[in-house]
Amino acid sequence: MHNAAFATLGLNWRYAACEVDPAKLRAAIAGAQAMGFAGLNLTVPHKLLAVDMVDELDVSAKVWGAVNTIRFEGRTAPGDWRPPGEWGTDSPAEVRSVGFNTDADGLVASLREDLQVTLAGARVLLLGAGGAGRTAALKLASEKVSELFLVNRTHAKILELRAEIQKKFPAVAVGLGYPKDTNTPIDLVINATSLGLKAGDPSPLDERQFTWQQARAAYDMIYRPAETAWLQAARAAGCRTANGLGMLLHQGAKAFEIWTGKAAPVKVMREALFANIYAKS
Ligand code: ATR
Repeated sequence: MHNAAFATLGLNWRYAACEVDPAKLRAAIAGAQAMGFAGLNLTVPHKLLAVDMVDELDVSAKVWGAVNTIRFEGRTAPGDWRPPGEWGTDSPAEVRSVGFNTDADGLVASLREDLQVTLAGARVLLLGAGGAGRTAALKLASEKVSELFLVNRTHAKILELRAEIQKKFPAVAVGLGYPKDTNTPIDLVINATSLGLKAGDPSPLDERQFTWQQARAAYDMIYRPAETAWLQAARAAGCRTANGLGMLLHQGAKAFEIWTGKAAPVKVMREALFANIYAKS
């Protein structure tokens, strides 16, 4: 999606994927910086490690405690730090690395665009409290959902997450486990577990404790397969549904804007992403 976006904007930039041993992450970041890279994306397990490996953290990386995007900034003659899109032809004498996180914004952009969910005042059931679940819970709380129900296999993680939400966003009511009141609808159910990635995985939802009739919309962060059995069941029950491709798209579009300083051509990126993820499989 990034290469399609560079081509559309006429930028002579390239995006390439490299597999990096976590033990060599610091050296890899320094190497990219030395080679004049504009920036990097990082994925599991590098997002947490990179927090201590960049020169500066943007507020987004501080809030979520993880870095998925690095921008290399150059110091210009007047002394200010400029993104790579503004360097011109001369390489800057001094370069620093800045860590950002675009995952949380990507999720919210996708929920709005793909499910037309209004998060303020919504009642949300979140399945999963790993890395992705934690970020989603905190972001939803910051978007002023009214009630957040947390479900996770390892109970200790939702206790910890509830405490963190109560400290940072005290107005949000946090429930442990499924909603007891089965008459008030849940506006949105999110799967942030890894269940559904593999064929034959059990459902992340305990249907003895929650039925799809109680829900209006379902979002599965998994995008491959395009429709998990869980999402299919939600759709069959009449819920609005979307998979996590929009989250991948929007975190990428935000990263593109961080590196280039230009508006991301989101439509082109979506088409390229769709073609690469689904048409080639
Ligand atoms: P990510 O960064 O993608 O969130 P993660 O931090 O490993 O990955 O989190 C995976 C999530 O899927 C967790 O909520 C995990 O539950 P635990 O916290 O109990 O580990 C959940 N998960 C993974 N396999 C599971 C399984 N077999 N049954 C239930 N939940 C599972």
